[in-house]
Amino acid sequence: MKIETLGPSFAARITGLDFKSKPDASLKDQLNAWLAEFAVLVFPSQFLNPQEFMNAVSYFGDLMPQQITQFTLKDFPLVGYNSTEDLPKKDGKLQVRGENFHTDHSNEIAPPKATSLLAVTLPSLGGDTQFVDVRRAFDDLPESQKLEIQGLKVLHVHQSNRSPREFAKLSPEALALIPQTWQPLVIRHPESLRPALYLNTGRMQQIAKLSDAQGFELIDELYAHASQPRYEYRHRWQVGDLVIWDNRSVMHQANADYNPEERRYLYRLMVQGVPLEPFQ
Ligand SMILES: [Fe+2]
Repeated sequence: MKIETLGPSFAARITGLDFKSKPDASLKDQLNAWLAEFAVLVFPSQFLNPQEFMNAVSYFGDLMPQQITQFTLKDFPLVGYNSTEDLPKKDGKLQVRGENFHTDHSNEIAPPKATSLLAVTLPSLGGDTQFVDVRRAFDDLPESQKLEIQGLKVLHVHQSNRSPREFAKLSPEALALIPQTWQPLVIRHPESLRPALYLNTGRMQQIAKLSDAQGFELIDELYAHASQPRYEYRHRWQVGDLVIWDNRSVMHQANADYNPEERRYLYRLMVQGVPLEPFQ
């Protein structure tokens, strides 16, 4: 295996590994150590079927069920998919899920450690995925502000009143099953122990001990800080790319900038995480 960093040094490309050939289980430790260190790993030329994709992502932990079950494969319910064909259009523009920086399912008690996408079919142009490093964004804050925000707790719900986008509509029964959880605003990564901002404007509903106005002002300020281009790696997809990212170290966002007549289809898996601890 060979690893090389991409763009800002939190993304890395790993070559010399073919998940189809079921690599030795002893590689797990190395792969997980790289994920904790770099946060975004790109494995090019992985032409995998859904079962092989599940085997590959299992090197990083237990697979987690998708929250939105209508976009999962019938024979492989753990495997979700993102497909142009399912996306609604508004004023001629595609409405893509995940079109602002976020971390996946932050309202879960134990949010996903990682999310992975495998590119099956791509449009001729556009549809990149962007990532920002929320560890470096925290590191760069003034020391006084770090102290101020450490220890704050934020309520994450299915969809915040101030969400910048509309989430998939769910039945009242499905919604009742979706948890809401108080999460630390500054988390300590469970493996690397590095501090990171834990932000998700679509789901952050309230900061404990702050008024709504103060809470949302702080969220907006931290979000604007963390989503600056200097913290960003932009992934331009190639068919066969398997990308996996650590949801505790980066935020990600999708782009609806491609031709809606062209097909874009990716498989999606999530890896189970643990409850998040505050950085103190
Ligand atoms: Fe997402």
